Amino acid sequence: MNKSGMRILVIGSGGREHALTWKLAQSPRVSEIVCAPGNGGMGAETVKSSGRQVVCEAVAATDIDGMLGLARKIRPDLTVVAPDDPLAMGMVDRLTGEGFRAWGPTRNAARFEWSKGFSQEFMDRHGIPTARSQVCESPEAALKFADELEGKVAVKADGLALGKGVIVCGSAAEARAAIQSIMVDRDFGAAGSRVVIQERLYGMEISLHAFCDGRTWKAFPSSQDHKAAYDGDKGPNTGGMGTYSPAPFVDPHEFDRIAAAILDPWMEGCRREGIDYRGLIYPGIMLTDNGPKVIEFNSRFGDPETQCYLPRLENDLLDLMDACVDGTLDSIRAVWAPHATVCVVMASGGYPQAYEKGKVIVGIDEAEALDGVKVFHAGTRLREDGALVTSGGRVLGVTATAMGLEAARNRAYEAVERIRFEGAFYRRDIAAKAFQG
Ligand code: AMP
Ligand code: GLY
Repeated sequence: MNKSGMRILVIGSGGREHALTWKLAQSPRVSEIVCAPGNGGMGAETVKSSGRQVVCEAVAATDIDGMLGLARKIRPDLTVVAPDDPLAMGMVDRLTGEGFRAWGPTRNAARFEWSKGFSQEFMDRHGIPTARSQVCESPEAALKFADELEGKVAVKADGLALGKGVIVCGSAAEARAAIQSIMVDRDFGAAGSRVVIQERLYGMEISLHAFCDGRTWKAFPSSQDHKAAYDGDKGPNTGGMGTYSPAPFVDPHEFDRIAAAILDPWMEGCRREGIDYRGLIYPGIMLTDNGPKVIEFNSRFGDPETQCYLPRLENDLLDLMDACVDGTLDSIRAVWAPHATVCVVMASGGYPQAYEKGKVIVGIDEAEALDGVKVFHAGTRLREDGALVTSGGRVLGVTATAMGLEAARNRAYEAVERIRFEGAFYRRDIAAKAFQG
């Protein structure tokens, strides 16, 4: 599709969706963007070609019927389905079933994320480098395999569990407790009726992202997320506390080889099994002494990876998204700026456990006055009196682009210092691993 004057519907309300909206708003082919439900930052963006402000509609990302009603009303030329839940619920299938063009995998293709058991068995069938593992339907089978590995395992609930549902264990006792929690006590709900037990791997974690059009994949540069809540990778797991790109400990050629070693057999496996994957595929990778291993697949853009990727993308994002939908990705070259980006997440005090909402946020304009700084909103909302207040755990993704990672990191933290809200906390060591020998 090469139409201009396009109306785009973006589904979701996080930092990832703000970054997607911000980038799509720069497209010369886009004239209107509607976000559902959106957030305080998405609604403040302006579409460059038309000067029109982005509109937020109060429809939840998981409300499929509500979203179809909205689509019938606004007739989008393309709907971008960004979060995992609506993808797993079949939002893309429903939209395309009614004749709307939608970007993102179908429910069947998104299974790589909503069933870790499926993903694991797929990797084993198609020779994708991964951890030694077993998919277990009963606590007894899980215990037996965990014991074989002396408890040095990762126990993973099969289904979606809000980025939780994975317990990394170092002893037989820990593995037993993890299996009890996930399979018996069902601490992550029905997602725990099956588990994947993986051997525990050691090494640096990196994120791989690739666009896919059902036949061809196109990998992004490398990046690294920081999933633990506190400095030094301590504390509970979160959705992600900060990212940077590129990750300098894998040179770009090596990274291309890693991408091919994973995505070539993955794509061939999809072809053989009749999976028409269109959208974005995001394998999480661990760089071990025995080579790179995939520990999971996500069927969507990472959050906050997207916030540090899109400022480096020189293409019109809409061209790439159209190519994914139309099956024409082989005709486009994705161009990435040589700049580095660092995104530091500012979170509500208490996150990822209980936290308060409604705290007034100040200083975003001052932060964005710094060269190369963009503040992506996640949990923010505009109060009736016009004040911007916190409304979620991860509140802002403060992102800096600069020549060189060190400059980008320093700029990002300079920007963070200018922003204030009660209880704000953030990691002070985002990108630090990039500077360790
Ligand atoms: P996942 O959602 O499967 O990526 O797992 C969440 C986190 O658990 C990952 O980011 C890793 O830090 C950790 N993890 C997952 N699988 C393993 C494994 N096999 N060995 C060691 N750590 C793991
Ligand atoms: N950044 C981790 C995720 O999006 O799953």
